[in-house]
Amino acid sequence: MSSAKLILNDKEFEFPVIVGSEQEVGIDLTSLRAKTGAITYDPGYGNTGACQSAITYIDGDQGILRYRGYPIEEIANNASFVETCYLLIYGELPNAQQLADFQHQLTYHTLIHEDMKKFFEGYPAKAHPMAIMASMVTSLSTYYEESDDPAVTKLNMIRLLAKAKTIAAFSYKKSIGQPYIYPRNDLSYTGDFLHMLFAVPAEPYQISPVLERALNLLLILHADHEQNCSTSTVRMVGSSRASLFASIGAGICALWGPLHGGANQEVIEMLEMIRADGGDYHKYMNLAKDKTSSFKLMGFGHRVYKNFDPRAKICKAITDEVLGALGIHDPLLEIAKNLEEIALSDSYFVERKLYPNVDFYSGIIYRAMGIPTNMFTVLFALGRMPGWIAHWQEMRGDSATKINRPRQVYTGAPERHYVPVAQR
Ligand code: SDX
Repeated sequence: MSSAKLILNDKEFEFPVIVGSEQEVGIDLTSLRAKTGAITYDPGYGNTGACQSAITYIDGDQGILRYRGYPIEEIANNASFVETCYLLIYGELPNAQQLADFQHQLTYHTLIHEDMKKFFEGYPAKAHPMAIMASMVTSLSTYYEESDDPAVTKLNMIRLLAKAKTIAAFSYKKSIGQPYIYPRNDLSYTGDFLHMLFAVPAEPYQISPVLERALNLLLILHADHEQNCSTSTVRMVGSSRASLFASIGAGICALWGPLHGGANQEVIEMLEMIRADGGDYHKYMNLAKDKTSSFKLMGFGHRVYKNFDPRAKICKAITDEVLGALGIHDPLLEIAKNLEEIALSDSYFVERKLYPNVDFYSGIIYRAMGIPTNMFTVLFALGRMPGWIAHWQEMRGDSATKINRPRQVYTGAPERHYVPVAQR
């Protein structure tokens, strides 16, 4: 298959075809408008490839997810989040020396400038941590100059990865009125984050190995997901040659939406609502299918996965493990499992291939870890940081990259002329 033919107004046009390393086929329409005068029309870009990428592969029909070719199941069961960051950004799993160097860099760039603490003081206590994270990440560009020097860009990527967890932890401490806990160089990435979240100056905080392992796994599961809404936002903003920090600040805002990363918070709020309403999950399943209702089963459905989201499977498995290890019985978990069981046999969900996605169970684990609901999407952002960085880097290094500027089909008024207000 080397080309595709299009017939428009009785004229035939031919376009080249590109085939990816997993045999995905893309019709190259870069010459469509010049040849035909027409554009494509694909709201939501469900059928549109914005780029070629070597970072992550998803097969939605098979429920396959691979980071740089490695199956998510193998990475999740064997790697650390820091290893996964290295793999996504540099393309290969690090050897022992590379991993040690990378870990050292991440460890020694965790502090934010002391003046940045003043930013937190301006926010109201109820400020959503995603608003804080988006503005603080963008504000890193006021402290760290960006340049085309690859060494500067590489250092800024390290700074972003390292400081993101400090910003996240400080925004949590700010929201509960507790003093900030500074990063510690003797702890792992996830152990240090848990320590910054939950330690208090008055007494030592014992990091639970169960929580440290669970957090490591959750961050890995969220690390990248090819051209999702927030990653596409990072690539779009970066295509104007906006800075790394500004591009990823924009990505954080996109992730915040309840249809995207904000869904993990929505899932818990949905389960709590069902529980408060007597736990009648059948009622809410019917609402989800009722077209006159705006209710959606949050944590269900996906633009790409038309089979199980492999991340949801892993999340579900560790949910039982974490809650069991912590001796927690969460009634929301039972409601979630009952909803899933019904949905997997209900024709509405089966016909639309709606399965649990990564957000369906992750919030229950975060809850068991003692993380407040409004921090869930911040943890999603923390996990997605390496993926955003890897895509920003790939976009900037791609000679095919042009400033993103989609077209439209205009449906407004035809030409008309100004009428003075006295004559209207
Ligand atoms: C993430 O893209 C990524 O990779 C994202 C992500 C990542 O890692 O970056 O995987 C993370 O964002 C996961 C998704 C989290 N969002 C939610 O859980 C919110 C609930 N889900 C839906 O809003 C929806 O499923 C989306 C947004 C996820 C996908 O929407 P699509 O692809 O635009 O599909 P659609 O809305 O057109 O739905 C198709 C049909 C519709 O019914 P019909 O018009 O055909 O009758 O399915 C229905 C929808 O009404 N439907 C649902 C539903 N999701 C879709 N009905 C009830 N409950 C739902 N959750």
